[in-house]
Amino acid sequence: MPLPDLSPDLSPEASPEVTPDSLRPTQRADDVADPSTACGEPLRRCALSLADEAATDAFAARLAAALSPGHVVWLCGTLGAGKTTLVRGLLRALGHEGPVRSPTFTLLEPYAFARFAVYHFDLYRFASAHEWHDAGFDDYFGKTGVCLVEWPEQAAGAVPAPDVRIALAFSGEPGASSQRSVTLEAWTQAGLRCVNAIVDGC
Ligand SMILES: Nc1ncnc2c1ncn2[C@@H]1O[C@H](COP(=O)(O)OP(=O)(O)OP(=O)(O)O)[C@@H](O)[C@H]1O
Ligand SMILES: [Mg+2]
Repeated sequence: MPLPDLSPDLSPEASPEVTPDSLRPTQRADDVADPSTACGEPLRRCALSLADEAATDAFAARLAAALSPGHVVWLCGTLGAGKTTLVRGLLRALGHEGPVRSPTFTLLEPYAFARFAVYHFDLYRFASAHEWHDAGFDDYFGKTGVCLVEWPEQAAGAVPAPDVRIALAFSGEPGASSQRSVTLEAWTQAGLRCVNAIVDGC
């Protein structure tokens, strides 16, 4: 399934403002092979353009195929950028047939698949890092499930660092176009394998 408008590098001015490093996440040191990560640089960063929702679904399917148990994926971007739409495409690619609700109020929506469980977080209404621990969300990370986290910046300092960070943005005026730009970043070796599989098909 080809990805449209794939380019290998992202210009600095196009870099998103919020990075895992700037949020001081709990980086898993044992999984970081490249010292540059400690300086706030991902192991790989790619820019993609998604023309419409069908392209987002195609990207989501490639992401689904590239994920492994234990992966943590941050989904960044403003309201309506397409984070939940991407999750919906991913869940459908994994075989989910029911509705996909945005867990804006429940914060977490779990899904069970043969390959792994998927935990979909939406932290938009998260107030403080204390809530993270009170809710017991750490129990979902670093195990056999895949965690997809919308609005990770709302739980900065508590939410575990990502293997893969995906930032979606409107291309042009919000609502004026269905085109989205995507920044895909690998922050761990596991994330790098995932990003390589998506971008290079290897
Ligand atoms: N290429 C595209 N990719 C994703 N969504 C698109 C695209 N083009 C149009 N859309 C529309 O944009 C909207 C994206 O909404 P969505 O709920 O996925 O955003 P979100 O980033 O999760 O927002 P929020 O921060 O409120 O959770 C949907 O109505 C979707 O149909
Ligand atoms: Mg959403």
